[in-house]
Amino acid sequence: MEVPLSLLWLLVAPGVLWTGGDTFETHIIGGHEAAPYSRPYMVSLRKAGSHLCGGVLVHPQWVLTAAHCVAQRTQQLRLVLGLHTLRDPGLTFRARAAILHPEYKPAPHLENDLALLQLDGKVRRSRTIQALALPRGRQAVAVGARCSVAGWGLTQQGGKLARALRELDVRVLDTRMCNNSRFWHGGIAPGMVCLAAEAKNQAPCKGDSGGPLVCDKGHLAGVLSFSSTSCTDIFKPPVATAVAPYVSWIKKTIRRWPARLAPEALGSP
Ligand SMILES: *[C@@H]1O[C@H](CO)[C@@H](O)[C@H](O)[C@H]1NC(C)=O
Repeated sequence: MEVPLSLLWLLVAPGVLWTGGDTFETHIIGGHEAAPYSRPYMVSLRKAGSHLCGGVLVHPQWVLTAAHCVAQRTQQLRLVLGLHTLRDPGLTFRARAAILHPEYKPAPHLENDLALLQLDGKVRRSRTIQALALPRGRQAVAVGARCSVAGWGLTQQGGKLARALRELDVRVLDTRMCNNSRFWHGGIAPGMVCLAAEAKNQAPCKGDSGGPLVCDKGHLAGVLSFSSTSCTDIFKPPVATAVAPYVSWIKKTIRRWPARLAPEALGSP
C-alpha cells in the first residue's frame, strides 16, 4: 500500500539552522526544554555544519538513527555528542561506516527506517555522554504507554531549529486506528509506532527524525521516522520505528562489523 506522500521531516534545509538567539517560547512544537544533559545519549547528526537529524548512542562506538537521515553520501556526516544547545562545542565524530537496515524502503514506503553509524572513535562514558540501553524483550511498545521524544527539530512549522534540546510527552496510539483510512491509510507497517501528544499543536517536526522514543526510563523504545509535512496534523500523527523487533539485527551488526574499516563503507554485513 502506498503512503500518501506527505511525510519526511528529515533534512532541515541549510540556512534554517540555528540562526541567532531563538526568541520563540514554543518548542519541539509543544513540549519543553530538557534538563541539561539529562539525555546524554542524544546525538546531533550534521552535514556541512547543519543539524539534520537526531541520533541515539547505543554503544560506545555506535549510533542508531533513521535510515532516511543517512540515505546518501556519508563522508560529509558529522556526529556531535555531549550537547545541550546546538552551539555547544560537544564532541564531534565522523561516520566510519553507515549501515542501513537491509530491508530499508525509502519514501513513500519508509519501512525499516533504521541505520547504524559507526563512530571513528570510541566514547568514554561521562556526565554528558552515555549510551542508552536497547529494549529488553522483543515486545513492541504497548498501546496507551506514556513515552517521550526529544530533539532539536523545528520549534514551529516553518520556524527554526531549537536552540537547546527539547522533549515532549507522547502516548502510543492504537496501530489499527492509526492505519485506517482517516489516519495513515494503510501506511503503517508492522513495527511502526504511532504517537500523539497530550494536546493539539504539539509534535515532533523537521530535524527530529532519528531521535529517541523513550517509554521506560533507561531503554530506547523507538526511533522517530516520519510525520505529515505540517507536523501537527492530528490525522497524520508522528510515527516511530519500534526498536525491539530490530535488536537482534543491531547486536549482530555491532558484533560483526570490524572495529576498523576503510572510511565510508556502506552496506550491510
Ligand atoms: C496497514 O494496512 C496495510 C494495508 O491494508 C497493511 O498492508 C498493513 O499490514 C497494515 N499495518 C499493520 C501494522 O497492520
